[in-house]
Amino acid sequence: MYWRVRPFWAFEMEFVVKISVIGCGYLGAVHAACMAELGHEVIGVDVDQAKIDFLSEGRAPFFEPGLPEILTSAIATGRLRFTTDMSEVADAAVHFVAVGTPQTKGSYAADMTYVDAAVDALIPHLSDGALVVGKSTVPVGTAARLADKVAAGAPHASLAWNPEFLREGFAVQDTLGPDRLVYGVPAGDAGERASGLLDEIYAVALAADTPRIVMDYATAELVKVSANAFLATKISFINAMAEVAEATGADVTMLADAIGHDVRIGRRFLNSGLGFGGGCLPKDIRAFRARGEELGLGSSLAFLGEVDAINLRRRERMVELTRETLGGLEGKRIAVLGLAFKPDSDDVRDSPSLDVAARLHEEGAIVTVTDPEAIETAKRLHPELSYETTVADTVDGADAVLVLTEWKQYRALTPEDLSATAGQVILDGRNCLDRELWRGAGWTYSSLGRP
Ligand code: UGA
Repeated sequence: MYWRVRPFWAFEMEFVVKISVIGCGYLGAVHAACMAELGHEVIGVDVDQAKIDFLSEGRAPFFEPGLPEILTSAIATGRLRFTTDMSEVADAAVHFVAVGTPQTKGSYAADMTYVDAAVDALIPHLSDGALVVGKSTVPVGTAARLADKVAAGAPHASLAWNPEFLREGFAVQDTLGPDRLVYGVPAGDAGERASGLLDEIYAVALAADTPRIVMDYATAELVKVSANAFLATKISFINAMAEVAEATGADVTMLADAIGHDVRIGRRFLNSGLGFGGGCLPKDIRAFRARGEELGLGSSLAFLGEVDAINLRRRERMVELTRETLGGLEGKRIAVLGLAFKPDSDDVRDSPSLDVAARLHEEGAIVTVTDPEAIETAKRLHPELSYETTVADTVDGADAVLVLTEWKQYRALTPEDLSATAGQVILDGRNCLDRELWRGAGWTYSSLGRP
């Protein structure tokens, strides 16, 4: 399912680095487990005792395919442990900072509180020659600021920036076998040393010819945010085409297939539908824009405001489409399949699907929802919705079924599977169903951007 590196351990003992990972959320927990899987000695640190207890038992605090297996095996070998006590990192040579940079309340800027707190707490425990490596997604300029902090508090330590490009649902695979390695390092000997240490850590990926690009801090920070900005722009581009398709009777999925054959454009990340969500793309494009404003570059990044607006309009359109199809929402029974921001995840942060379900409820519909993994996380944010664990119970008596996250099991549904629905109406929020199959069975089928 994911890339096990163990069979390649011919050089297993050549490079074993003592590593700490500060912050054991999504990024940090995956990074810590994967570094131990590669053979390094890893200690994960987090201020949240409950999270540390969970991870110490080899359990992942979130759904991520493959993660529990490598957590359990790395803990069993003694190469991976977790603590809340920062002083225990003192003998590590490399310290990855992987704490969150959420959107600040009341502003678009990234909240840097956790990054600063992590580095401040780490500095007293840095040994001579230690390397602090930033992994969090940060506004450009942060690494230089933190390098000054490290230089002042621990003069014999240094700092590098090594952004992460993993995708949720493929996090283990992406961390063990990244498509590129980016090192942001200071000039001169300190930079050479930092690159050398990172090369030891990533020896397995480098042996597999993974491209490695060494650059300055600012470029490394920008590589990360511009990659996410590009991906978000690609999705909003195709969703803007969906708006045009809706007004003209064109079919956006055929359009995407046709333009995607041009290798300069490419078909990946051109799936139109409810748009992007999650803990990264939405807040990263907002933070990038906010940073642009601070730098006096508002016009250079103003287009990201449009990318965000197109993305949010898709959710409104989905509510509208449901209203139009049902002739109103008040008192209508609506079944929602899919709550996670994408399949193979239990993450509902800024999830378009959950947002649409909540809006339909606010508009007076009787909304029953389900998801293969995200029921518990969704309930915490929207306890007012009615939750069911099976598709059959969710669709029972529904006037309309909305498929909002394209889990494999929902893509495979047939009209016979949903015979309990009252209205035989299906709305496809991800353009993931076979339109002809549903219409052929007498259902009303509607989707975003397709007639
Ligand atoms: C994203 C990036 O893809 C990663 O490279 C990056 O490392 C990560 O953010 C991060 O910064 O940590 P992720 O948030 O896991 O990864 O999710 P994606 O696979 O990028 O999907 C994001 C959203 O876009 C989802 O809601 C998905 O449904 C939507 N999407 C994706 C579309 O609407 N259409 C597409 O064609 C592709």
